[in-house]
Amino acid sequence: MSVWFNPSHAIDQILRQVASETEGFNADFEPGVRPADPKFGDYQANGVLGFAKRNKANPRELGQKLIEAAQASGQFDPELVELSLAGPGFINFKLSPKFIWDWQLAFSTKADYQSGAKELKNGRKVIIDYPSANTAKQAHIGHLRPMVIGQAISRLLDFCGADLVRDNHIGDWGTNFGTLIMKIKRDDIDLSNLGENALVTLDQLYKDGSALETEQPELRDVSRNELVLLQNGDAENTAIWEQIVEISKVAFDKLFAQMGVEVDITLGESFYRDKVERIYDELTEIGLAEESDGALVVWHDEVKKFARDNERPYPFNIRKSDGASNYASTDLATVLYRVEEFKAEEIIYLTDARQQDHFQQLFLTTEKWFKAKGYPLPEMSHVFWGTILGADKKPFKTKSGESIKLQELLDEARSRAYDVVSEKNPDLPEDERRVIAESVGVGAMKYADLSSNRTQDYVFSWDRLLSFEGNTAPYLLYAVARINSIFRKVGVDPEATIEGASQLETEAEMGLARKLMGFVTALELTINDLRPHFLCTYLYELTSAYSTFYNADKVMVDDAAVKARRLILCARTRTVLKTGLELLGIQPLERM
Ligand code: ARG
Repeated sequence: MSVWFNPSHAIDQILRQVASETEGFNADFEPGVRPADPKFGDYQANGVLGFAKRNKANPRELGQKLIEAAQASGQFDPELVELSLAGPGFINFKLSPKFIWDWQLAFSTKADYQSGAKELKNGRKVIIDYPSANTAKQAHIGHLRPMVIGQAISRLLDFCGADLVRDNHIGDWGTNFGTLIMKIKRDDIDLSNLGENALVTLDQLYKDGSALETEQPELRDVSRNELVLLQNGDAENTAIWEQIVEISKVAFDKLFAQMGVEVDITLGESFYRDKVERIYDELTEIGLAEESDGALVVWHDEVKKFARDNERPYPFNIRKSDGASNYASTDLATVLYRVEEFKAEEIIYLTDARQQDHFQQLFLTTEKWFKAKGYPLPEMSHVFWGTILGADKKPFKTKSGESIKLQELLDEARSRAYDVVSEKNPDLPEDERRVIAESVGVGAMKYADLSSNRTQDYVFSWDRLLSFEGNTAPYLLYAVARINSIFRKVGVDPEATIEGASQLETEAEMGLARKLMGFVTALELTINDLRPHFLCTYLYELTSAYSTFYNADKVMVDDAAVKARRLILCARTRTVLKTGLELLGIQPLERM
């Protein structure tokens, strides 16, 4: 036996196979392998207990039988893994120091980690719907989380072997276009001539247009008419709309480049405008949708939370009473397109928490519809998040109460990081300090967002996120830079194979080595829950384990074999930290 990259996965597979050939077990048996309380071992299988209960058998006897069969199968080398029965019928697995050391030798590069992690998603076709902003509006702080969280989850899915499509489902077909076109025509604005800040101008034009409608309500009809013209393909309005979409795209691409956001395709709501008829037809044909007050709706009476004041739960409105499509119709058409065109097995949507009801209705409707039509149903999940708060615990705003522009936030991150870096390391050349500030500033902002459990609100604090202490990007980046400096000092390439090492001995060495192996578990946890803070917590704990090791055990010792094995631990810590940071969208630095 050689060491497994992902022991919990390997143990699970072996137990399944052994059980299938052991009397007393059947296909209903789930091993239930998980990381264990370190007091008892490294992993524990607790599936025998429930299985024995369901089958009225003695769990300890069954457990003992499984252990014996597993050992007899020869798949657990006693030099590497020790099995024991515990409690009412658990099986504990203890990895030997040799296993833990061999693991460090067997897996050393990012590519090694990736080839081990690949089986987590195993080629699954996944569509991630992000950052999916609305066009014609300037990006503000509310756009930070979809970009940051979406990008991290995308990279993680890709690393873990998903066959991923990042689909930017922009909101380019909303009612706001009526108002905007009304205002543009009224003022005879030349959209091709708005210059660098064209989107800012558009944003303002829309606001002015809305204000005008409030003053002169009869203008609402004009706007509505412009919208209808656009929806019916009128050439002039279509040309204006295309320019608006292009202006938004240019502005967003600029932000994507700064934020490191990658998308594969951009198919906005407008792309589905000729695909909604089929939705109305199919949903009506199977009896799922019906007319109600002129609108087309789908009722989900079983979901009581959609009921307000004890009335019938409100329905999913899929076509407005004026016959126009809406957010729901385009989203239904989008699911179908993703399944038919991309053969999506899983779709992940990212928006803030306010859209939870929409997605619950969308998922329910899709389930019923696909079942009736016999379409393959993808797994669908809604990744949502809480609000970014200011120091006063209210939504983070500018002093005058406006929403903070994303570009301003990015600029401030860079300039504050530059000050911090200059103070810490005034001797570095200025251009290098700028490069460092870019990674530290933008990285720190991303990390603060990712390291808090996404479903909770968090308080935005420059001082905290730029601090070199605690669970922050600067702390982790600095740890990488410090390890780099060790390798520069000894004149060894951290990526090269280090020969002549002896096996680990000290407690701090073992503690760090075990923590390094925990990378797999952290990835799995993060991917299963789509919560990047699990990975952040892990990286932070790894850095602490590294500090403990570094303070306890000198690396630069005379004994060449001891020095070599400690350098190996430094090199692995560096690789795991760098890989982890890159997955989170943060650029590791050679020095800082
Ligand atoms: N454009 C929407 C918004 O800004 C988010 C779209 C999310 N994706 C989706 N398929 N509904 O709120």
